[in-house]
Amino acid sequence: MIPKTNNPVRQTVERINQPSQEREKEKYVVGVFDSIANAYDLMNSLMSFGLHRYWRKYAVRRLGVFSGATVLDGCTGTAEFALASARAAGPKGRVIGFDFSAGMLKYGKPKLNRRANEAPISLQQANALSLPYKTAQFDFVTVGCGIRNLADIDQGLREVCRVLKPGGKFACLDLGRPVIPIYSQLYYFFFFYVVPLIGKLVASQYEAYSYLPHSLATFPKQEELQAKMQQAGFKNVHYVNLAEGAMALHIGEKSAA
Ligand SMILES: C[S@@+](CC[C@H](N)C(=O)[O-])C[C@H]1O[C@@H](n2cnc3c(N)ncnc32)[C@H](O)[C@@H]1O
Repeated sequence: MIPKTNNPVRQTVERINQPSQEREKEKYVVGVFDSIANAYDLMNSLMSFGLHRYWRKYAVRRLGVFSGATVLDGCTGTAEFALASARAAGPKGRVIGFDFSAGMLKYGKPKLNRRANEAPISLQQANALSLPYKTAQFDFVTVGCGIRNLADIDQGLREVCRVLKPGGKFACLDLGRPVIPIYSQLYYFFFFYVVPLIGKLVASQYEAYSYLPHSLATFPKQEELQAKMQQAGFKNVHYVNLAEGAMALHIGEKSAA
């Protein structure tokens, strides 16, 4: 079970997750990510024991990103998922990454020096709840640890479905609930108590790194997210647990007609 801590961030997260608090949540989330952008990649490596890059590569492989594909990476942050897709889509492909945190995009931009065998990537500032892209524009959409941060998850999923071409596929890589009881207790201890301390030491950001675990408390479990994706219009929705369910990769397909 997710621990009930006395951390005041828990109350904040519960408050901003109320449906009437969407603007508040967006402001809070932009503030969190702008404040941790400079240490984001390093902290990701520390928190995931270096596994986060492998998980994105695995997601791109499971999705079947092909040479020449058009890919949208939602909530791209520092563009790591966009880079993984650019390798698979090759020089004839095209990748767009968007995020509403200018701070995060700033740390993604220097990574975009294109290699000859990779798709060009453009990074844009946009809100996942109202995408500035045409209906049926992309072959694939990826979102890594972004859906959990949305002020309206259902609306975000509907927008992903809208911009996919019929038959296009969506990969949502996000935190899950570990499936083995003893492991889950160790994991929650690490995530809720150790991660904020590492955040304080490495990035001088205790509150922002308290937000990350607490954002899990109100996020749907694996089966619930699967149901939400189905309600948003995806078919063949399935998920794979990674790191014994600490992470989950959900994949869904937009109907062909
Ligand atoms: C945990 S980071 C993930 C970054 C990246 N996808 C990765 O896998 O490392 C979550 C990102 O979602 C972005 N985000 C949250 N809500 C958003 C929204 N409504 N529109 C656009 N970006 C959003 C945040 O700014 C942040 O950069």
